[in-house]
Amino acid sequence: MKIKSIRGFHDILPESIRRWHFIEDAARRIFELYGFSEIRIPVLEFTDVFARSLGTTTDIVEKEMYTFEDRDGSSLTLRPEGTAGVVRAYIEDSMHAKSGISKLYYTGMMFRHERPQKGRFRGFYQIGAELIGPQEPASDAELVTMLWRFFEETELTQFLELEISSLGDQNCRPQYKEKLVEYFTPQKNDLCENCQRRLQANPLRILDCKEKKCKEIAAEAPSMLDNLCQECENHFNAVKENLTAVGVPFVINPKIVRGLDYYTRTVFEVTTQELGSQNAVAAGGRYDGLVEELGGPDIAAVGFAMGIERIVLLQEKAIPKGFPKKVDVFIAHLGDEARKAAFPLAIELRQKDVSVEMDYGNKSLKSQMKRADKLGAGFTFILGEEELEKGVVKVRNMNESSEEDIKINEVVDAYQKFKS
Ligand code: HAM
Repeated sequence: MKIKSIRGFHDILPESIRRWHFIEDAARRIFELYGFSEIRIPVLEFTDVFARSLGTTTDIVEKEMYTFEDRDGSSLTLRPEGTAGVVRAYIEDSMHAKSGISKLYYTGMMFRHERPQKGRFRGFYQIGAELIGPQEPASDAELVTMLWRFFEETELTQFLELEISSLGDQNCRPQYKEKLVEYFTPQKNDLCENCQRRLQANPLRILDCKEKKCKEIAAEAPSMLDNLCQECENHFNAVKENLTAVGVPFVINPKIVRGLDYYTRTVFEVTTQELGSQNAVAAGGRYDGLVEELGGPDIAAVGFAMGIERIVLLQEKAIPKGFPKKVDVFIAHLGDEARKAAFPLAIELRQKDVSVEMDYGNKSLKSQMKRADKLGAGFTFILGEEELEKGVVKVRNMNESSEEDIKINEVVDAYQKFKS
């Protein structure tokens, strides 16, 4: 049997990796400007870390986690997201004792056993950021602004919409849930089987159901935004004001529910019309109870994560040409002596930060020039018998198709001068 990759998992090949680097570099640059530092956490955690964080009635915990028993019988899970692990590390390393504010970002692979489709994988990459400590709305606004700045920097805002809402807190959400139960119960039999079950366990989830009938019923359901307590309303208003003050465009979508249970107050999603049903490119929100829930002190937090595969798909639309790898110099050589002279020249150039390619054998000049073209070389250095005899290199500027003979021991300096 031919070996192949697991369904829902994919390779990122060299021809697209530069898109990934562009995205990751932009994220790092911007996040660092906003005071965030990278944290690297394990891909594997005790199952409890996720079950307690994400909520036992969420789709992820109910049916999407890669969970297995370790040799000692403990239950382990491949991380389906990054927040739970970051909070686990935050508590374990007593970060709260070191600073009142922790700004952490991470990138890495996440694992969810979902049905694969365009933009949805079982093994996928996220870049995420968590701002742990402050509870003020200015911190929500700063985080969302940072996310939007990232999308501006990567030239993707043309495809995107920022949707925000509030899910209330432990004061107002329970009453709202009751209102939902009251609203949905008379129509219970018209809801899908899942939602009938959700009605008791987690009625908010009904608002997020993709079934047509449930959607129709949910359209008229009471809105969380009409049921916020005064503190939550003030918080939400302040977040909106702060975003408006710095020109971050947003729309209010009271239907945002989020697929994880740890959220309180602000929630947001960055969505696109370009990717079919997998329309969320980034998402997050405030989760003020999670640190305490996992055994730490009562500390507030807000964060987001974005899906890199989806961002790459959008970038393919924005920048179809991508970022092809180009070599600075190709050295074409003819004959054994020329090849021997070319090798140290290549090494010396690379030492000076010039990228160089050359053939290892004795190919024809024509085939070497073809390769130089394919590699997008800016210059080709030609070293034939004649050049060797004269002690020169024929330097061809590939863009201008001009040629010049330069002494072999001066060519590195000449190239560097020309480039600067
Ligand atoms: P999430 O909404 O589950 O949130 O995922 C965040 C983003 O990851 C999504 O908007 C999407 O772009 C990407 N994503 C999710 N699932 C898949 C998949 N199967 N294939 C490809 N991309 C996917 C979280 O994970 C939270 N931890 C975000 C957060 C951080 N909230 C607070 N802090």
